Amino acid sequence: MAFPFFTKSAPTIADRCRDDSATKLRLRYAPYYHAMEAQQGTTVRLKGRDMIMLASNDYLGLSFHPKVIEAARAALLKWGTSPTGARVSNGSRAYHHELEEKLAAFLGKEACHVHAAGYLSCLSGVAAFAQKGDVILADKNIHSCLWDGIRLSAATVERFSHNNPEDLRAVAASLPADYAKMMVVEGVYSMEGHIARLPELVAVAGEYGCFNVLDDAHGFGVLGREGRGTCDHFGLTDRIDIICGSMSKSLASTGGFVAGDRAFIEYLRTHGKHTIFSASLSPAQAAAASAALDVMQSEPGHLERLRANTRRYTAMLQSLGLDTWGSETPAVPVVIGNKQRAYAFWQALLENGVFTVMSIAPAVPPGKDLIRTAISAGHTDEQLERIAEAFAHAKKKTL
Ligand SMILES: Cc1ncc(COP(=O)(O)O)c(C=O)c1O
Repeated sequence: MAFPFFTKSAPTIADRCRDDSATKLRLRYAPYYHAMEAQQGTTVRLKGRDMIMLASNDYLGLSFHPKVIEAARAALLKWGTSPTGARVSNGSRAYHHELEEKLAAFLGKEACHVHAAGYLSCLSGVAAFAQKGDVILADKNIHSCLWDGIRLSAATVERFSHNNPEDLRAVAASLPADYAKMMVVEGVYSMEGHIARLPELVAVAGEYGCFNVLDDAHGFGVLGREGRGTCDHFGLTDRIDIICGSMSKSLASTGGFVAGDRAFIEYLRTHGKHTIFSASLSPAQAAAASAALDVMQSEPGHLERLRANTRRYTAMLQSLGLDTWGSETPAVPVVIGNKQRAYAFWQALLENGVFTVMSIAPAVPPGKDLIRTAISAGHTDEQLERIAEAFAHAKKKTL
């Protein structure tokens, strides 16, 4: 039926994509999707110029470690480039099981399942376990993959203030007792660098019978003994039901993991659509992660160096009077507070040979526009000095 007063037709999807001003702004003017021409450890080449990479999540600096590279090369020769299918059908290999057993033991859990992307693991770590009629209590600053998992679960979501156990209690107390509940938090918040207040959060969640899911993409390799993560850091591994995370940060690879009781991992394998209907982790990526996990345990110097670099770098930024949003980890934001100045600051760092990432609203709360940086065990003393000079210069020029 035609509506006589509304003759203007809606734009087509193709028109909407072509005319989108946000896309034009982000891709043509803003500092995203830069293709580096070369990389060697913490040095990258951009537009013919070598620069220090200060935005990589390779926290332990293992992505160029000879043992990691050799393991990936050997796996390619042994298994080829692709597992050619999903785990449930033709894509399960012995190397998946070996990596899962190693990861489960390292994390202090009975079992583990690895996926081809961290995003997929964290999304599945929520979506496979919660269902319609459940309530998910989520920290309001969790990563997009967890929000997607929440949406796909069809459960009702209730947000609580970032890292705030008192607010978690207030929200949980307002809910009817007969809903099954889940709490979803991160171990280390990637944008803010904050460590979850896990002891208080799990205490509240325990009172309300929550199933606890923790995304430790940025805590794994960084916190705890030998880098076992946030749960180990607090001695609370048994209070978290599902630990999910990514292998693209400290494990110098790509892919992700979900770890928990054997019953939970078996449930994920039979109920998790994203686990069942997606091709499995490729051989070289699994081998790199497995070798990085060995290196983490046999060469403690990388974690010691990471922690020393983090202290030195954060102290340097604070001595310049820059706002690091209370970060206690290698993910260190520098809050500038306004889009234009954040862009100018980002450019000034780039001119001085330091590559960072600008993050502006809506990716961060309004007024928190920031430069997202991450320090690595791979940064040398000389690079740390050059980084300090670049920040001093950028501050003088733009703030
Ligand atoms: C907290 C968090 N969870 C999950 C992911 C997804 O991991 P991946 O990028 O390896 O897919 C990321 C990646 O940025 C992350 O920061």
